[in-house]
Amino acid sequence: MQNRFEGKVALVTGAGSRRGIGRATALALAREGAKVVITDIVEENVARVTSELNSISQAIGEVADVREKIAMLRVVQRTVESFGGLDILVNVAGLSRPTPFLDTTEEEYDLVLDVNLKGTFLATQAAVPAILERGGGSIVSLASVSGQRGGGIFGASAYSASKAGVMGLTKALARELTPRGIRVNCVAPSMVDTDIAGDLLTPERKVELARGTLMGRMATVDDVVKPILFLASDESAYLTGVTLDINGGTHLH
Ligand SMILES: NC(=O)c1ccc[n+]([C@@H]2O[C@H](COP(=O)([O-])OP(=O)(O)OC[C@H]3O[C@@H](n4cnc5c(N)ncnc54)[C@H](O)[C@@H]3O)[C@@H](O)[C@H]2O)c1
Repeated sequence: MQNRFEGKVALVTGAGSRRGIGRATALALAREGAKVVITDIVEENVARVTSELNSISQAIGEVADVREKIAMLRVVQRTVESFGGLDILVNVAGLSRPTPFLDTTEEEYDLVLDVNLKGTFLATQAAVPAILERGGGSIVSLASVSGQRGGGIFGASAYSASKAGVMGLTKALARELTPRGIRVNCVAPSMVDTDIAGDLLTPERKVELARGTLMGRMATVDDVVKPILFLASDESAYLTGVTLDINGGTHLH
């Protein structure tokens, strides 16, 4: 077990889901010594994951919607008051919709873009002053292969656009913030076995998706968490503005 995050404070959004990338990231950060703050919109999930985290390290859970700037500012303020600062932000909160383009309502488009892209923007805007106060840190956001190749699995046009937006935002923030000590990167996973696709990820579909990779298997949550921790840690000290592909060879470009 490494201890790359001893003395660090990390904030992970969207960490409530039982089988999700956010919870696994938060737990992995805690196991390596970080004090961790998590957010999600489902109160009982926040409470459950916070208690899991507290058995490993010091942790706080906040019910907060990434679409609400005031909520994210409150989370960062509580983080700083409780743990003395903030070093790492991992933007995980997100949702996906498989709706074909012509059937996508304006409401659904707004929902997907607001959570995935605006939420990443607002959470980062809330966190950056505190990270600057510490003299720098690292931000990692969840993009998706869908933003690179135009969906094609479960995420359709709105999802794809939102994740392409996260990649552009990552580069723009890297330009502005890296000279001030904050590295900004994102990961672009292909389909991971979580609950994001709901009932659509059937056993048959999983076999089919595995065939579309060079690895012969779908990504596990752990396959995604390890690169996130790499980008959050000093091991990636010279990486910024990067989109790290985690796709098992699904998309080579
Ligand atoms: N699972 C995949 O195949 C896959 C692939 C590529 C990228 N991603 C991205 O990874 C991230 C995590 O996905 P996951 O598979 O763990 O999904 P998940 O559904 O298990 O977790 C997403 C979490 O975000 C939370 N959330 C939703 N809206 C929110 C809001 N407004 N404010 C705060 N939290 C909110 C949900 O409650 C949930 O706990 C997402 O951004 C997703 O787009 C997932």
